[in-house]
Amino acid sequence: MAFRAVKGMNDILPNASGRWQRLEATFRRHADLHGFEEVRVPILEHTELFVRSIGEVTDIVEKEMYSFVHRDEALTLRPEGTAGVARALVEHKLYATAPVTRWYYLGPMFRAERPQRGRLRQFHQAGCEIFGDPGPACDAELISMIVDLLTDLGVAELEVAINSLGGPGTRARYRQALLGYLAPRAGELSDTARARLEANPLRILDSKHPRDVEVCAAAPSILDVLDAEDRAHFDGLRAALDALGTPYAVEPRLVRGLDYYTHTSFEIRSRAGELGSQNTLAGGGRYDAMVAELGGPGTPAIGFAMGLERILLALPEPAPSPRRGCFLAPMGQAATSRALGLARELRAAGVRAELDARGGSLRSLLRRADGSGARVCIVLGDAELGRGVAQVKDLELHAQEDVPLPEVVAHAAALTGSAAEAAS
Ligand code: HAM
Repeated sequence: MAFRAVKGMNDILPNASGRWQRLEATFRRHADLHGFEEVRVPILEHTELFVRSIGEVTDIVEKEMYSFVHRDEALTLRPEGTAGVARALVEHKLYATAPVTRWYYLGPMFRAERPQRGRLRQFHQAGCEIFGDPGPACDAELISMIVDLLTDLGVAELEVAINSLGGPGTRARYRQALLGYLAPRAGELSDTARARLEANPLRILDSKHPRDVEVCAAAPSILDVLDAEDRAHFDGLRAALDALGTPYAVEPRLVRGLDYYTHTSFEIRSRAGELGSQNTLAGGGRYDAMVAELGGPGTPAIGFAMGLERILLALPEPAPSPRRGCFLAPMGQAATSRALGLARELRAAGVRAELDARGGSLRSLLRRADGSGARVCIVLGDAELGRGVAQVKDLELHAQEDVPLPEVVAHAAALTGSAAEAAS
């Protein structure tokens, strides 16, 4: 039987992993520049953690979690990173060690959604969370960091959407206003939306069902019911984004799919590349109530996560990667013995070296060297050994010369530029 990967869970093969590594490195660099430190939390958490933080009546918790019971423990493959990171902060009482904690993370997340372009069941997020800073300047800096990061990566046609979900008082008032509007129109809503009407009417605003979208188009705006404090926060966010020169659009219906948001919520989208309808690259917001909800002290918090698969879809195809390193092609027993040592010396000098000791004709060895992506092929046969040299071929410039064996490492390092690379 031939096995296949689970639907919606992709292999990332070596021909793609270079792009992933560059994306991850750029994310880490920007996160570091903003003072974030990496946190690594488990992929598996107690199911209740996600139910409590994300909310019982949400798509993620109702339909999309990979949950199972193992030896009486209800466990779930993490559908997102925020809950686990906040749990770690509380569990290790790290809120007590510094007034502000800035953490970033990278890794796979799991949601049993219907797979399509840009929507997977195992996907990867890079995210940042800030604990302890209540101010809107912090929200604006985070948003503009994502814009800078995506721009640096080469993602074009970015759009920032922001909204405020206010504090608990505003939320309760808005719930009433929304119910007042939606209840008389219940018959026009989708079945899922109708079922959520009482329990969580806010979730109806982010339904993609055409009937719900139509009904919600004229729904009351949460921005009309913000209290003075919420309004001041939102105005502060807008002023800080203006000060940073980060353009944005206010979207009063942007509530996002998770229940934990308070005050600021935002999404960053792109019209570029092959994204289609899954064009939200990053989303986030404030969640000032979560740390207390998980058993810690009241701690303001804000964060975002971006979907790495989607970002790669938004980026133009990269130029083919340049040739790198050396391919050693010994012919015969004695040459292989010498090449083993040579390969080791090359690596010690910081030169990538691949040894192919399978033998064969010079032609087939050169074909393999070419296919390996190496910059330099070092051919070593009995004739070369007898003369104390190796044939060094530059596979990019199609030049070749005989180089005395003691000089091969320095020569190859110069051709591949690896010595400089290793030293830098
Ligand atoms: P989210 O909006 O659910 O937020 O996900 C963030 C990003 O992850 C999305 O904008 C998208 O790029 C990517 N994403 C989500 N689901 C999928 C999927 N099935 N396939 C591919 N990519 C996907 C959160 O997860 C929050 N934890 C963000 C946050 C952090 N809020 C505060 N802190």
